[in-house]
Amino acid sequence: MVRPIPYVDLAAQFADERATLERLLIAELSEGQWIAGAAVAELERRLAAQLGVAHVIGLNSGTDALVLGLRALGIGPGDEVITPPNSFVASAASIVAVGATPVFADVLSCQAIDPLAVERAITPRTKAIMPVHLTGRMVAMDPITALARSHGLRVVEDAAQAFGSRQGGKFAGTVGDIGCFSAHPLKNLNAAGDAGFLATNDDDVAQTVRLLRSHGLADRNTVTMWGTVSRLDTVQAVILSHRLDALDGVIAARRRNAAQYRELLDPRHVFHPAPVEDQFDSFHTFVVQVDHRDELQRHLADHGIGTSIHYPVPIHLQPAARSLGHRLGSFPVTERQAGRILSLPIHQFLAADDIARVAATINEFFR
Ligand SMILES: Cc1ncc(COP(=O)(O)O)c(C=O)c1O
Repeated sequence: MVRPIPYVDLAAQFADERATLERLLIAELSEGQWIAGAAVAELERRLAAQLGVAHVIGLNSGTDALVLGLRALGIGPGDEVITPPNSFVASAASIVAVGATPVFADVLSCQAIDPLAVERAITPRTKAIMPVHLTGRMVAMDPITALARSHGLRVVEDAAQAFGSRQGGKFAGTVGDIGCFSAHPLKNLNAAGDAGFLATNDDDVAQTVRLLRSHGLADRNTVTMWGTVSRLDTVQAVILSHRLDALDGVIAARRRNAAQYRELLDPRHVFHPAPVEDQFDSFHTFVVQVDHRDELQRHLADHGIGTSIHYPVPIHLQPAARSLGHRLGSFPVTERQAGRILSLPIHQFLAADDIARVAATINEFFR
């Protein structure tokens, strides 16, 4: 029996930290301040310091970071926001949630939104561009920022997969007006449930998002605007603070695994975008593009190797998107990639032997 190589291993993560987390969580629960406890403010302060931004606001999810961020920018019915169709559904869904229209722009071979397609998609209704730092690899932000500046648009970075990634010394989520992060269990910086946060240097946006996350309550009895409930739980803040201490090690392990894959995988059959100079990728996922993807995925499963696909059906082809009027052929690069992408195991509990086995199993499949 070959040893399985799971795509993710959250049980291993918990086993590693169990003793410390038990102590921290019992102490926090004993305080009784389960909503808006001191741990939330402390985490927000640490995240803001690490990212080098004025404000980080803890929220219920990365999706809510996008929704509340768009709302705080005043984006709503009649407005358009440009975003790629190859993301997790939350990117486009957040635009729909505020009553605006997602306008898709196709992507480049590296899966990042194509700035030329963004430019072609701009109309008089466009209010913002939402680039997505898919896989933890940052979209080249200079062309996006230049387009936003010349057309008077806002930039909302979907950095859900990219906490810790950098480009030219700037962290993902700190280049645009707003950066939106997910701390979903499968992210590099992960909570034990749903969690997310928003980063911004804009004082007005920060103040509005703080109000929106808690029913617009300026104090216990004064509702200044219609809001929602989207606070980061105190227990999740405790877990995230603890995991933030370990994050550099987690990202370093993922980067090591990625470098080993790049060295071992046969480039004649397996495409992975080359690293970009002056860019630091956090490798939320390691996505290769291959022919015969489904057969390869089955072959790997037969050899005990777990993989995933992010994402097999582009957003514009989802049943929910029917009213937007797209069809097969609307975004050819995204559509072609959807049939070729495969996410390989990259997590921090894999040994060099595991990566070597995955790579050898893939190369052998193509031989
Ligand atoms: C690109 C992207 N955007 C947004 C989200 C939404 O984050 P959450 O699941 O925390 O709501 C995710 C999460 O998977 C994501 O990958």
